[in-house]
Amino acid sequence: MTKNGDKKGGATLIDHETGREHRLPIVGGTMGPRALDVQGLYGKTGLFTYDPGFTSTAACRSAITYIDGEAGLLLHRGYRIEDLAENCKFTEVCYLLLNGELPDKEQHEDFEHAITYHTMLHEQMRDFYRGFRRDSHPMAIMVGVVGAMSAFYHDSTDISDPEQREVAQHRLIAKIPTIAAMAYRYSMGRPFMYPRNDLGYAGNFLYMTFGMPTEPYEPDLVLARAMNRIFILHADHEQNASTSTVRTAGSSGANPYACISAGIASLWGPAHGGANEAVLNMLREIGDKSRIPEFIARAKDRDDPFRLMGFGHRVYKNFDPRAVVLRGSAHEVLDVLGRRNDPLLALALELEKIALEDEYFVERKLFPNVDFYSGIILEAMGFPTSMFTVLFAVARTVGWVSQWNEMMEGGALRISRPRQIFEGYEEREFIPMSRR
Ligand code: SDX
Repeated sequence: MTKNGDKKGGATLIDHETGREHRLPIVGGTMGPRALDVQGLYGKTGLFTYDPGFTSTAACRSAITYIDGEAGLLLHRGYRIEDLAENCKFTEVCYLLLNGELPDKEQHEDFEHAITYHTMLHEQMRDFYRGFRRDSHPMAIMVGVVGAMSAFYHDSTDISDPEQREVAQHRLIAKIPTIAAMAYRYSMGRPFMYPRNDLGYAGNFLYMTFGMPTEPYEPDLVLARAMNRIFILHADHEQNASTSTVRTAGSSGANPYACISAGIASLWGPAHGGANEAVLNMLREIGDKSRIPEFIARAKDRDDPFRLMGFGHRVYKNFDPRAVVLRGSAHEVLDVLGRRNDPLLALALELEKIALEDEYFVERKLFPNVDFYSGIILEAMGFPTSMFTVLFAVARTVGWVSQWNEMMEGGALRISRPRQIFEGYEEREFIPMSRR
């Protein structure tokens, strides 16, 4: 099959109401499902397509991430996520997602230097934090402060200038951990910690989060490695809800900081990036192993909106390869921190065991997903539950900016403008208040 269509000439749509036949091209890419090209459908047929949730819709062409849900395969620019998570620094994967190739030593050093020297925030941005209540959800702070970056970095908001786009991408990747750590420090009433240029990306984040100005702090190497792996495993994931939000925002020509702020807002939802926080809240609600069967029963009950947080996936109908890698890290972190017998974490491992043996979950291939294990690791590392989705946003920022830039480089921008099936009133006569 060619990129722009089948050798056999596409597909024929027969509208049995009108009897008219319409030929539609079938297009495809390097691998994955072919697609019916319906770009001209409405003009030719007067028909829309209907696909709420877009589960059967390819919204764009992309070369960044490929997922095969049945095979449990996740590739970033052709490389398996397992290989990247086991062998790379997060900044190597950032370079790969942004540029399409893994960096050589010199390229990585140059990239890491560029990121390191963008980690500080404009000093005046610190004042934004004081506008939030101390008990604000840190995701609310992330949405606000990242959006406000466009008020401070005007010299990197011209989306038509590749150099300005690159600076904006570097600033976002570099500053998002600083903004996240500051959100945590503010909620704890602790002083902000400036980034350190001698630490790597993951270690610097741990330092800014858990370090104290009163004494030296060196990040634990095992925890820094786990953090690095969590960042890699959450970096990008094709056209998920938050990435699609970033692309939709970017399609109007909005500046990159506003687009990433929109992505953070979408990620916050418990069905998406908020699932890791929801996992821990669910475990606290279950409370004891004896209550697991009750919650498993609720998860199966179609009349009960309760879902088993951290299980299932819109695309992976087998296992989530990221969860497989993270499961290993979860056990490693629990052992290093001596928290395997922590009641909440022991409950999580028991829930995993029971769910994996339960026919309802096995039949529907509802395996633990990336959020299940990231929730366990972050809890063990001492992050408050409210920070879990913030960490997901820190990691996913590189994916969002890579996908945004790919759209910017893809030629003329076409604003996203889905249509609808209208079910409201037909036109009717206006009735003035005096006659109602
Ligand atoms: C992420 O898109 C991405 O790539 C997202 C993400 C990323 O990296 O960006 O991977 C990150 O968001 C991972 C998902 C995190 N969300 C959760 O853990 C929340 C709990 N999961 C569910 O909300 C759910 O699994 C979804 C939203 C993730 C997927 O929902 P779907 O597409 O409706 O799931 P499905 O079509 O596979 O469901 C099949 C059946 C249905 O029941 P039946 O109609 O067959 O009777 O399984 C049921 C669903 O009701 N089901 C669940 C369930 N998930 C699906 N039942 C109980 N508990 C669950 N968690």
